[in-house]
Amino acid sequence: MTLSDPWDSETAKAYDKLDAAMFAPAVLGPMVDRLAALAGGGRALEFAIGTGRVAIPLHEKGVPVTGIELSTAMIDELRGKVDDATIPVIVGDMATASAPGRFSLVYLVYNTITNLLSQREQVACFRNAARHLEAGGRFVLELGVPDLRKLPPGQTAVVFADQPGYIGLDTYDLLNQRVVSHHFRFGDDRQANLLRSAHRYVWPTELDLMAELAGFELEERSADWAGAPFTAESGSHVSIYRLAR
Ligand SMILES: C[S@@+](CC[C@H](N)C(=O)[O-])C[C@H]1O[C@@H](n2cnc3c(N)ncnc32)[C@H](O)[C@@H]1O
Repeated sequence: MTLSDPWDSETAKAYDKLDAAMFAPAVLGPMVDRLAALAGGGRALEFAIGTGRVAIPLHEKGVPVTGIELSTAMIDELRGKVDDATIPVIVGDMATASAPGRFSLVYLVYNTITNLLSQREQVACFRNAARHLEAGGRFVLELGVPDLRKLPPGQTAVVFADQPGYIGLDTYDLLNQRVVSHHFRFGDDRQANLLRSAHRYVWPTELDLMAELAGFELEERSADWAGAPFTAESGSHVSIYRLAR
């Protein structure tokens, strides 16, 4: 089954509203503060910049930000907020595309490394981050821990969200380390809107190995942007990799 492009103009136009909780100051504040500190006065590159949810407040904090983004529809939404001189964006795949110059920080948030559907592409993404960094620069990822503990033997689907007007369902292909997220949105009538996205989930330890292949060392892993300890119960992590000098 081939899924339609989840990042088309319909999704792009709705993104900021549908994901409004992710724009809340309580979510963005600690994240942007941490990224600004990690940039250490240098330039930042966001892989998969989207509509600028993170890049715009980071730029407003005084960090020069460039983006790489595959979806021109998402870039169009970004361009409704800031121009190309303020936040330049290269259209392309974060596993292969190049942005001019060197950066002190490359970051990839909101689970987006999983949008690369093979291990090979995910490793290429690490190598691409390394190519863009100055010596000692950092690659920072924000990523959920795979939710497999919720999957009893013989079951391949898990409801990950159940809210008024919205159900989120993940269906797993365990053999190939893939998951499809189904987002059902509906009102009081019989119509529902379905958005599906395919992902390759990754364990933190596999991420560390990919990082090592690209010349990085794990500097820190925490459960959130404020630095809470990462434990066996953590649902996601912020992993900071440093390029060997
Ligand atoms: C969940 S959104 C995150 C956007 C933004 N980083 C944020 O945190 O709001 C995922 C974004 O990744 C982009 N994307 C997916 N695969 C990509 C790839 N291979 N290269 C570059 N961008 C990609 C999508 O077009 C979309 O804009």
